Amino acid sequence: MSLIGRPPLEMDMERTFVMLKPSCVERRIMGEVIARFERKGFNIVSMKLIKMSRQQAEELYSAHRGKHFYDGLVAAVTGKPVLVLVLEGRGAVEVVRRMIGATDPIKAEPGTIRGDYGSDITDNIVHASDSKESYEREYRLFFSDQELVS
Ligand SMILES: Nc1ncnc2c1ncn2[C@@H]1O[C@H](COP(=O)(O)OP(=O)(O)O)[C@@H](O)[C@H]1O
Ligand SMILES: [Mg+2]
Repeated sequence: MSLIGRPPLEMDMERTFVMLKPSCVERRIMGEVIARFERKGFNIVSMKLIKMSRQQAEELYSAHRGKHFYDGLVAAVTGKPVLVLVLEGRGAVEVVRRMIGATDPIKAEPGTIRGDYGSDITDNIVHASDSKESYEREYRLFFSDQELVS
């Protein structure tokens, strides 16, 4: 992976990719979810409202290809407005994963985003990268490096 053309991050700073899923947009709770990340101290380094192509959705969820929920998952996020963001801050990957909570909103702790806003396992409000490697793969599906604002 080439880092040429990309300025180095400050010590300890880390980035993660977040997607607010279609239901989050439809229910008009994007602002509440974004506010949580801002209050925690993360910087938004890029953000846009898009309709994901089928190819982007298939790539984003490529690790799940072949699983029973894959087709439904891809369909659920394709062609509908979603908000894609890159967040930056100390420990961003792990902290954001803890803030969003368990995959199944019924099991997610109250106080987490899925725990507070979700009920459906497929439509669980928000996606966030699960590792630095996932971040590197995922943000590129939606952003160019020129779109990341420090
Ligand atoms: N058993 C399931 N049934 C339906 N959809 C699921 C199931 N497991 C996961 N999903 C969907 O696939 C997405 C990706 O799954 P996974 O990577 O395991 O969870 P996470 O989003 O917490 O990283 C989940 O956010 C959810 O939308
Ligand atoms: Mg995952």
